[in-house]
Amino acid sequence: MGDLLGKSPWSAVSYCRQCPGALESGMIDPISTKPESPLIAPSILAADFANLASDAKASLDAGADLLHVDIMDGHFVPNLSMGPAVCASLHKALPDAYLDVHLMVADPRAYFKPFADAGANLLSFHIEVCESQEHARELCGVIEDLGIHTGIVINPPTDVDVLLPVVDAFDLVLVMSVNPGFGGQAFIPEVLEKGQRIAPMLRKNQRLEIDGGIGPQTAHAARDAGFDTLVAGSAIYGKPRDQWGQIIRTLRG
Ligand code: DX5
Ligand code: ZN
Repeated sequence: MGDLLGKSPWSAVSYCRQCPGALESGMIDPISTKPESPLIAPSILAADFANLASDAKASLDAGADLLHVDIMDGHFVPNLSMGPAVCASLHKALPDAYLDVHLMVADPRAYFKPFADAGANLLSFHIEVCESQEHARELCGVIEDLGIHTGIVINPPTDVDVLLPVVDAFDLVLVMSVNPGFGGQAFIPEVLEKGQRIAPMLRKNQRLEIDGGIGPQTAHAARDAGFDTLVAGSAIYGKPRDQWGQIIRTLRG
């Protein structure tokens, strides 16, 4: 992670509720400072789970900025991925890595504290599981009270007008560019318009992230639409390690 600070386009700031000494050890915060160039968030869903810490560290050493952790409950999406124990092990192995935890679950509130305790630095949940704007804001407040960053996610079929009224409350807005549940799917270009609608609304300390089908062929369109944080799973971990540095540079543009 020492190398990461040299490569990263933004400054080092402490951010970890479990690790008060994180500033000294180089913990970074992708939220508070608008990056000069897009942040790259490898999705560990595509990593080799038998060598998770090694793959995750190698991607950070190759220039990635944070780790995207996909949580699936088999209800909100038709797949299972990992639980808080895996997140805790990753945090223990890489305490300086910023963990961006994407909750693809029907009942996110039940998982906020377990993942915060497991070292998550940001928890995002889907607008599709919220009954109202007030419900989305209430869940956001529960995460804030845990002392970590907040994110709201929107699926490709969901109208962006449902999301816009609550955008101000969150540290990060995540636009899905595939239907969630699986890595390696084809990018859905129609979602780019959502980025164009959301980007002008954001403060400098809010990030706009895109997730699904991002790779060297699609990253430029995402950047042009205003996204400043790009999730990429198979485009990084699906390739040989010696290519990750070049791929990450290409994604960043
Ligand atoms: C999809 C997940 C994504 C996925 C991205 O349900 O939220 O984060 O891992 O994988 P790629 O980059 O392979 O589309
Ligand atoms: Zn994701």
